[in-house]
Parts: sequence; C-alpha cells; structure tokens
Amino acid sequence: MRVTLSVIKADVGGYVGHSSSHPEVLSKAEECLKPSRDNGLLIDFCVTRCGDDLELIMTHQQGEDDERIHKLAWDTFVECTAVAKRLKLHGAGQDLLADAFSGTIKGMGPGVAEMQFEEREAETIIVLMADKTSSGAWNLPLYKMFADPFNTIGLVIAPNMHSGFSFEVHDVKEHKKIVFSAPEEIYDMLIFLGSPSRYAAKAVHHRETNEIAAVSSTQRLSLIAGRYVGKDDPVCVVRSQGQFPAVGEILEPFTMPQLVEGWMRGSHHGPLMPVATHQSNPSRFDGPPRVTCLGFQLNEGKLVGPRDMFDDPAFDEARRMAGEVADYMRRHGPFEPHRLPLEGMEYTTMPGVMKRLEGRFIDF
Ligand code: F6R
Ligand code: MG
Ligand code: MG
Repeated sequence: MRVTLSVIKADVGGYVGHSSSHPEVLSKAEECLKPSRDNGLLIDFCVTRCGDDLELIMTHQQGEDDERIHKLAWDTFVECTAVAKRLKLHGAGQDLLADAFSGTIKGMGPGVAEMQFEEREAETIIVLMADKTSSGAWNLPLYKMFADPFNTIGLVIAPNMHSGFSFEVHDVKEHKKIVFSAPEEIYDMLIFLGSPSRYAAKAVHHRETNEIAAVSSTQRLSLIAGRYVGKDDPVCVVRSQGQFPAVGEILEPFTMPQLVEGWMRGSHHGPLMPVATHQSNPSRFDGPPRVTCLGFQLNEGKLVGPRDMFDDPAFDEARRMAGEVADYMRRHGPFEPHRLPLEGMEYTTMPGVMKRLEGRFIDF
C-alpha cells in the first residue's frame, strides 16, 4: 500500500512567552483534524508539540504537495491561532506569513516534511522535531546516520545498506539543489553540509533501491518573510530498520549536543538538547535549543504509537553535557561565537548604531 506521511508544523503562539504550547491549542488541532480522518481524507494523525511549535503528523494517500492536505493544515493553524489570540498567548499566528491559502502551504511560513512510499511489512518511522533552531540543524545528525560508519555500523556490516545513501542538499539562499553520493563524495558534500546556515540536507535516498530514507523541512522563515519572524524550528522524518538505519543508529547522533544556531532571539549558538516531549519547554535564556523524537510503526497507514524516543535515561548524559555546554557558551555573553556573526543574527541594532556613530569613525 502506498502511503504519504506529511509532517507540517507552525508556531501559532507561545505559552509562556516562547517556552511552550498551551493545551487548548493542541486540543483545537485535534478537533480540526478529526473530521478529515472520519471522512477518509486522512488515514490517521497525531498532534504534538516541541516547545512552542505545533506539529501535525498525518498519514494519507493523496501524495506529496496535495492541496487538500496542505489546506487542512493551514486551516488548522488558522483555527489554533484564533485560540491563541483569545488566550492572548505570545506571538499568536507568528508563523502564518500569508493572509490566505493559495494551493500549497510551502512558502507561507509553516515547515513541511513529506514523503510517499510503499509501506513495508514493518514500517518503522522516526519523527524528529526541534525548537529554537534552524533547518541546518539536521545536517550533522543526517550525515552521521547515513554516511558515518562510526555512528551507523549497518553501513559496514549490513549487506542491504553497504552501497550507501545519496543526499539532496539545498542552497536555501539561492534556491538551488545538488545530489551527492555517499560514501564516494563525502569530502565534497561536507564543505556544504558543514555550513548549515546556508546549505541544508533536504532528503536522503537509499542508493540501491532509490527508496526515500529521510526528508526534512528546509525553509528559512526569515528569507521567506525578508525580516525576522522567529526561527524555523525544523522537523525531519526518517524511515528505520531493514535497509535503513536502525532506531538506535538514528538516535545515536543526538548523544552529542551539537552547537546549533538559534536560542535567545534566534541570535546565538547553543547546544541541541535531546528531551522527552514533556521536557521540551526551553526556558533558560529561551533555550537551550531542544530536539524531541516520536517513533511509530505504521499499520496500513495507521500510526501505531507514538513512543517518546528520548524519554530514556540513556540520554541523561547528553542532557547533562548540553547543560554544561550551555553554561560555557553563556559566559561569553554578547560575544561571538556564542552570539552569531553580524549577518546571522535575527535581531540587530547595528544599522541604527552605525548610522548614529558614522561621523565618529575616522581613518587610522
Ligand atoms: C527564539 C525565540 C525567543 C524570542 C525572544 C524575544 O527563537 O523565539 O528567544 O526571540 O523571547 O521574543 P519577542 O521579540 O517575541 O518578545
Ligand atoms: Mg515562538
Ligand atoms: Mg519555536
């Protein structure tokens, strides 16, 4: 059976500040999606959150980029925004950048990760969600999962993974894409993936079968809006087991709390802390950035789950390390590399300050 998995997300209002989501917003989303499961447009859905981001995980048979599915998500975010406004939550509707829906939700603010595939005998699906960071945050973990034999032993010893994976990399500024084959082209690929503010891994395919293995949301909100409107807070879907990395090979990269862009005012580097959903309430200096993970088995498109994958003491050490890195980075205060370089900051006073001090700069 061919199934499409669509994960569409938006920040429609924070509670309290940008730290978390209000339960009434989540229950409104449930209420909005239920009729579409009853009438068959959706096979199933799961509403969840990561920090202040509302995530709609949906299965159906309409394919990717389907207008009705995208409109359903858009209408749900609009309804949830109304709840956020009624409760006077912070930044109500902040990610809805367009006034009206027009065919696709892409480019309208919400993040989208969709994949269509033939459901396997056992279809294990991992959904990763992040808050207080941007889409390039998946570059390092996706590289480790699908190209690094020190992370994924399956690349070395599993015959059905041994031929490697291909990576579709997007230049989010120039709107160009390129496909690299791993392992042969990893040195070329890493010059791009290692610069996640501009290049983002969008999709990964199994090279032998060309089956989709992973897909992420790669939009840059600030580039769409032309101004600061909040961080992308991206999502990523990964198929697991068999010819794809095992669950433990997908989660392993998150034992190292990598430094990502985001955190306070979207203008800092900070460690990405893996947490259970109930712990995804970034409050310390509005962070540190979080990643949550829900796992499912698909049964004829029905979502059997979720299991909260980082709700495991085995990730305590990564959380502790993230706390330590957060302390260390915070001690830099307004200095780089804690603060992002001038061109990367989402908030800045530089143009105004520069203009005011123009006359005081003299040659030396
Ligand atoms: C970062 C984030 C927060 C806000 C900060 C100021 O992605 O969402 O750190 O940037 O709380 O928020 P405003 O400008 O809405 O008061
Ligand atoms: Mg927010
Ligand atoms: Mg957010």
